[in-house]
Amino acid sequence: HEGRLWGGRFAGGPAEAMFALSQSTQFDWRLARYDLAGSRAHARALHRANLLTDDELDGMIAGLDALEADVVSGAFVAAPTDEDVHGALERGLIERVGTELGGRLRAGRSRNDQIATLIRLYLRQALRDVATEVQNVVEALYEQARTHLGAPMPGRTHLQHAQPVLLSHQLLAHAWPLLRDTDRVRDLDRRLAISPYGSAALAGTSLGLDPRYVAGLLGFESSTANSIDGTAARDLVAEACFVLAQIAVDLSRIGEEIILWSTHEFGFVKLADAWSTGSSIMPQKKNPDVAELARGKAGRLIGNLSGLLATLKGLPLAYNRDLQEDKEPVFDSVDQLLVLTPAMAGLIGTLTFDTQRLAELAPRGFSLATDVADWLVRQRVPFAEAHDIAGAAVRFCEQHGIELSELTPEQLPEISASLQPAVLEVLTVRGSIDSRDGRGGTATVRVEEQLNEVLERFDEL
Ligand code: ARG
Repeated sequence: HEGRLWGGRFAGGPAEAMFALSQSTQFDWRLARYDLAGSRAHARALHRANLLTDDELDGMIAGLDALEADVVSGAFVAAPTDEDVHGALERGLIERVGTELGGRLRAGRSRNDQIATLIRLYLRQALRDVATEVQNVVEALYEQARTHLGAPMPGRTHLQHAQPVLLSHQLLAHAWPLLRDTDRVRDLDRRLAISPYGSAALAGTSLGLDPRYVAGLLGFESSTANSIDGTAARDLVAEACFVLAQIAVDLSRIGEEIILWSTHEFGFVKLADAWSTGSSIMPQKKNPDVAELARGKAGRLIGNLSGLLATLKGLPLAYNRDLQEDKEPVFDSVDQLLVLTPAMAGLIGTLTFDTQRLAELAPRGFSLATDVADWLVRQRVPFAEAHDIAGAAVRFCEQHGIELSELTPEQLPEISASLQPAVLEVLTVRGSIDSRDGRGGTATVRVEEQLNEVLERFDEL
């Protein structure tokens, strides 16, 4: 039974369709180098437990190193007869060091603890790679925010004009969720840093092997306290799927705004040629496909998360083959983000904002009404009454077809006796924005501070 890690109790090989269903080399091959690292650590544990002589350990490590070189060069690949990456690599080892030595490696371990360890090793690296790319998106947002510091735009709620804000404030509002995502990655890494190696099939390892020793060799902080949990749990894979899906959702929300902003009706922003696409029939078209793919891929990554959770929800402990279904979704989520994030960074970094149009639109839609109410409050008018008076001012302007900033001193008493000409001084976009100077507000001084706060986060990865 070449490439298969079992067979002694079977009179014949598996049916073809059974084998095709069971085979996982087509997707678990990406774990090969982690499998080899695990094998080297396991060989050292066997040696420490006097189950391998010094010479045998040297031979084993040399064989694993040679195999790794062939895996890296592509000289060694999974054969059609290999069931999974573990079986294929054991075959490769035996081909290099012989059955006598190669056949000793499997003692005291199981594919169940191997795969649970490998997926953690993989996720620790993959999530770090994704976080680096996410940081590049944050940097693109940061650069645009820094470049446009001072430029106003219409801030919206319910997609309606609400209050003027700085363009930089709006852009940084997309940076913070992504920074929380990179923080989630760091936080998850603490939980991923526990090795299940030594859990063996489910009950733990015999033969005097030391799981903590193996864990240390593989760069883990510690080893699992419960071998059943070590082999059966996939919550960390689901959590990785969540963090990856959340990143996609956050990119999708940026994408959605870019899609809206680049429409003729909004006209806030122009996309660079390099980061947009044309139409095969309509010569004038310039489409925001990067942003749309961000939106589309978010759906896909949410599917990967919910699919995995559905797989896990009814599973009894310990290992069940269903668990093999954890890999393709999480691999896919990683792969999709690794192609999406550089494109999003490119798209964002090359946006050209129409700051003049943004400034013109900022006070429209009576977006300074709150400033009227706030001015009245400073004149000791209770806010409820101030709200009514500001509302009356909006109604007045609507009837006369003007904006709040266009009110004349003569018109004010028609609205309310409380409105004095001094109110007109706050009815400017600049005044409105810079009055919101509490921490986290859109005032220019606060946004300047915010830029520095974002900058400080860059070195944390
Ligand atoms: N390929 C399996 C997985 O990805 C690991 C092998 C365990 N298989 C088994 N029959 N116990 O989960």
